[in-house]
Amino acid sequence: MRVHVAFTPSEEILAPLGIVIDVLRATSTITQAIASGYERVLCCAEVHEARAAAAATGDAVLGGERDAVRIDGFDFGNSPREFTGRPAAGTLVLTTTNGTRLLLAAAARSDTVLVGSLLNLGALVAEAHASGAEDVAVLCAGVLGELALDDAYVAGRIAESLGGEATDSAAAAIRLARSFSSHEEGLSSSQSARNLLEAGLEEDLAFCARESVLEVVPRFSRMVGTAAEVR
Ligand code: MLT
Repeated sequence: MRVHVAFTPSEEILAPLGIVIDVLRATSTITQAIASGYERVLCCAEVHEARAAAAATGDAVLGGERDAVRIDGFDFGNSPREFTGRPAAGTLVLTTTNGTRLLLAAAARSDTVLVGSLLNLGALVAEAHASGAEDVAVLCAGVLGELALDDAYVAGRIAESLGGEATDSAAAAIRLARSFSSHEEGLSSSQSARNLLEAGLEEDLAFCARESVLEVVPRFSRMVGTAAEVR
């Protein structure tokens, strides 16, 4: 297995297996929602697309953020803590600033796209190995097109856990991850974390920093209109 890391969405690494990372917070939220029993998450790039997808889907709720806070008229924001209880519907329609867009881009490039976070790290690594993929691209959402340390940190932890042959990008991510003493330190050092602190959402940092507490590995299944369906 050869492991690559793309630190920003503009680095379009082609690999049969893509692992999408937006640890603060879209991929943590998607993982938690599926673990809690949502049948699927429809990931949309734009707010109006999310509203239309929810309207077209009988049993759906709307979740997402802009500037880290819940979008007006939506049922939920983008905190994974909002999705720990019983599902409010069969489908969660989600749109976020960075993570859902990256998932859509990855779905167009890779045969298999897995959703990764610290929450499902162990199960994710096992699934990647079980896939038999010779090339794996760990794809970071970043923030508004720029590298985000939280995603780079988690990409390094995933690359380290995958083993195999690390390209220079993966080796850089591994070295970066090893420079932090804990997951919380790795996440808290980022612009993503500062954005959450400014919004009063600091509790999401500790929640998203928990390792391998969920066994689900959500994956892209198909396009539903302009939305990427994840199950
Ligand atoms: C994103 O997808 O851009 C992040 O999850 C932003 C957030 O959750 O605040």
